[in-house]
Amino acid sequence: MSGPKHARPKGTRDWPPEAAARRRQVERVFRHTAGIFGFEEIITPTFEHAEVFLKSSGEASDIVTKETYTFPDRAGRQLTLRPEGTPGVVRAVLEERLRLPCRLFYYGPYFRYCRPQQGRAREFHQFGVELLGEADPEADAEVIVLGKWFFDDLGVADCAVQLNSIGCRECRPGYRSALVEFLSARRGELCSDCAARLERNPLRVLDCKNESCQLVYAGAPKPAELLCPECREHFVAVRAALERRGLRYALNNRLVRGLDYYNRTTFEYVSGRLGEQNSLGGGGRYDYLFEEFGGPPTPAVGLAIGMERTMLAMPAAPAGPGRRRLAFVIWMTENERAAAGELLDQLRVDGVPAQACFEGRPGRQFKAADAARAACCVIIGPDELARGVVGLKDLATGEQTEIPRNIVTPEVRALFRD
Ligand code: HAM
Repeated sequence: MSGPKHARPKGTRDWPPEAAARRRQVERVFRHTAGIFGFEEIITPTFEHAEVFLKSSGEASDIVTKETYTFPDRAGRQLTLRPEGTPGVVRAVLEERLRLPCRLFYYGPYFRYCRPQQGRAREFHQFGVELLGEADPEADAEVIVLGKWFFDDLGVADCAVQLNSIGCRECRPGYRSALVEFLSARRGELCSDCAARLERNPLRVLDCKNESCQLVYAGAPKPAELLCPECREHFVAVRAALERRGLRYALNNRLVRGLDYYNRTTFEYVSGRLGEQNSLGGGGRYDYLFEEFGGPPTPAVGLAIGMERTMLAMPAAPAGPGRRRLAFVIWMTENERAAAGELLDQLRVDGVPAQACFEGRPGRQFKAADAARAACCVIIGPDELARGVVGLKDLATGEQTEIPRNIVTPEVRALFRD
């Protein structure tokens, strides 16, 4: 086959059937984990009014200032393809007047205009949970533990949890000025991005990857050192809850996260297998976001996990063409076509996925069965038709047996090895 006339847009990817099936499996594990923690699914639009993200993810965040797909629709409204899930969920909870406290989960595509590389795409997928209306530190722990269980279930072996606290409205301004004062004296040593961030969003200097900025930061005051007594107490309680539940974590005093709405707890799941984009997922508490949307004060905590990065960190899929739970019905001459059609529908009525290739001779049909990665072929020729039997060929081993027609369904099922 020659190449197609059009290539997919940069930063997007296709999911051919086998990859789509693996992805669906990861989705099932997420839905299961979220479900056993009591979370219910919410689905929100893929685009929102641009202000939904400006007022929440942040006018000072790179994600909103540099990475959104924002465009006017034909009536001139400014719309943004969602770069993340949290603001849309908060908007929906208020607009749909959902009762609080509540636990919501979501899964879907998100869009960021970034420089594509391994683990970073312009269209990607997130699993997320939002636990709304609970201020207790146990709620933070609940969300962090949920994420870890998900990775454990998928066999993501080297997933480490990092934890930090960035304070609240009361203590953050004090920390911010201490940090700005410290960094201003060393402005010349910062990269140009960080020098610009100093006024706009000084906390972001903390997680700059640039070596000289990291050296400067090594001596700077850390957010957790200047917490007010309430934030300190909250942080201690979150840590105690995690420890009680047997979850190991590392403190990371650089963990400020790339979105503006966080307060108190921030956390990330990181994997050594991913290289530069090592964050599998992350989240934190965001107790002020509902007010930004005109709602009542509502404590909240949540996380989002990148689906593509999770799949990169998972153990490799078993090699070879995995066979599907699929029976392929094959007829040898036109005389058996009608009987084959009946067999096909009988299998389906019995709940067995079954398929045929309607064009071509038996050779072509067998090739189609292999291309479809069917588990087996049910074969009917003139002799079989006359004797009320069919041939059953196991495509994994190549073995063929003859069985009475009336036991095709259980015999086919027995060949589905899963
Ligand atoms: P985030 O850290 O921006 O948080 O994204 C969460 C995860 O999405 C990242 O850890 C990463 O795995 C994945 N991700 C982000 N950008 C990309 C990309 N360009 N390509 C591939 N994967 C990507 C949030 O989105 C917050 N809404 C999390 C949250 C929920 N906080 C509270 N509730």
